[in-house]
Amino acid sequence: MSFEETLENATSDASYQKARETSEKIHAAIEADPSRFRMLTGDRPTGNLHIGHYFGSLANRVALQQKGVETWILVADYQVITDRDGTGPIRERAYSLVTDYLAAGIDPERATIFAHSQVPALNQLMLPFLSLVTDSELRRNPTVKAELEATEGRPLSGLLLTYPVHQAADILFCKANIVPVGKDQLPHLEQTRVIASRFDRRYGRPEGLDKPIFPAPQALLSESGTILGLDGRKMSKSFGNTIDLGMTADETAKKIKKAVTDSDRHITYDPENRPEVSNLLTIAAMASGRSQMEIAEEIGDGGGGALKGYVTEAVNELLAPLRERRAELENDPAIVHNVLTEGIERANDQANDTLREVREAMHMVY
Ligand code: TRP
Repeated sequence: MSFEETLENATSDASYQKARETSEKIHAAIEADPSRFRMLTGDRPTGNLHIGHYFGSLANRVALQQKGVETWILVADYQVITDRDGTGPIRERAYSLVTDYLAAGIDPERATIFAHSQVPALNQLMLPFLSLVTDSELRRNPTVKAELEATEGRPLSGLLLTYPVHQAADILFCKANIVPVGKDQLPHLEQTRVIASRFDRRYGRPEGLDKPIFPAPQALLSESGTILGLDGRKMSKSFGNTIDLGMTADETAKKIKKAVTDSDRHITYDPENRPEVSNLLTIAAMASGRSQMEIAEEIGDGGGGALKGYVTEAVNELLAPLRERRAELENDPAIVHNVLTEGIERANDQANDTLREVREAMHMVY
């Protein structure tokens, strides 16, 4: 590792620790008074949501919504073209994403669900925001770097380079103060805070506003651990090792049957030496609410077959109501269409209000 890399890792470990601490404080503050918080988060419509998404973020969003946190969720359709050549079947994917949100328990009466491509004033914030960042700042962004590497030699597009600024517009247009995300998104949150405070310093405020237009948003890190795919690698559509929310119970069983285990029939929870078996135990634990140890003890010498049986049952039981709602929604696409239309309308109202403040602060009112 080069000196620069060592330094970068050390600082990112330190900022991760800090983000964890802030995140814990926010969790406590939410318990005390959820009405102080507005969360915004979202996903790229690039494929089906799987149980990794569910345990890692979706279940968490639903819980925050239930606690009374104001909820905004965006379908990040423009982000799809940061690192690929076309939009693909984006409409179907956006619908599928929103279907998953609703099936998982996001309540459109309380939550605003929208696609950012449909909100012109949100996208226009990108212009003043771009004036507040430097190209070297963007080139240093670890997420941009990682995505660039994953594209295997594809030249860095202007959109990939600047999408953290666009993501800042996603967050700031609605003045969200919390953003539930994974560790990989922390650099974007930092960039967003920098943009929010630089805007205030450089362009100021509309007359009569006694606080910055944009509050500084904080990351809310999910408390659940992450799960791996059924082959022990990262859970990812491209490895074919996922359990999708939209699969049937039978498809789920078949998928889990093919999961990688090891030759020791005695089941133990030992993530270090038995990552695949331990991961299956973690999936079972998250789905059933029991602990990995408890499940391992119960299976004992039953081997991989019994373990897989247990995982299948736990996952299918957990997802049964979600899948039932999913099927109902798929039968009536007008529901998702209406949810999106209403969400887009609300997002536009909010974005227009914010853009008006921005123009006033910048003296661009004619
Ligand atoms: N970058 C996020 C992802 O890849 C998606 C996203 C877009 C997002 N805009 C956002 C997440 C705003 C949180 C807040 O999953």
